[in-house]
Amino acid sequence: MAAERTFIAIKPDGVQRGLIGEILGRFERKGFKLIALKQLIPSRELAERHYGVHRERPFFSGLVDFITSGPVVAMVWEGDGVIASARNLIGATKPLEANPGTIRGDLAVNIGRNVIHGSDGLETAAFEIGLWFDSSELHDWVPSDQSWRVES
Ligand code: RTP
Ligand code: MG
Repeated sequence: MAAERTFIAIKPDGVQRGLIGEILGRFERKGFKLIALKQLIPSRELAERHYGVHRERPFFSGLVDFITSGPVVAMVWEGDGVIASARNLIGATKPLEANPGTIRGDLAVNIGRNVIHGSDGLETAAFEIGLWFDSSELHDWVPSDQSWRVES
């Protein structure tokens, strides 16, 4: 069975605030495996497809304006339970309600500037990975300390 993967993106506020290293480090230290990583300024079409589920919400156009306003760092991380675990590392959508120790709990104060996105389920993860990455950009590899993270 293929290992679980999730799509994570550091939003333009996280990039502008110099939080890339801080955020990457949390996923690395947790023990997940980085499968893909790139920086891009998303097109409006990409942003609208990514947040398509929110198309009818009043905040939709502002959300698309924001996410296309500058560079985003797009990533794919892999590991058992990575989708739910990444959501836990990220914290609640409203940063003021996010627990201390989470990315949003530690690094953000506003729902419209909440620093990071993470897929919310298996289907969403597969859709978002395919939307943001070509399969040639995904790299499987075995970390040299793998046996110290997971039992074989
Ligand atoms: P994301 O998709 O960005 O990882 O965030 P999420 O799952 O925690 O939250 P979601 O419900 O998917 O909302 C997507 C993004 O839309 C913005 N939002 N604004 N003003 C509002 O009421 C409102 N609600 C949502 C947030 O930036 C949220 O991350
Ligand atoms: Mg979401």
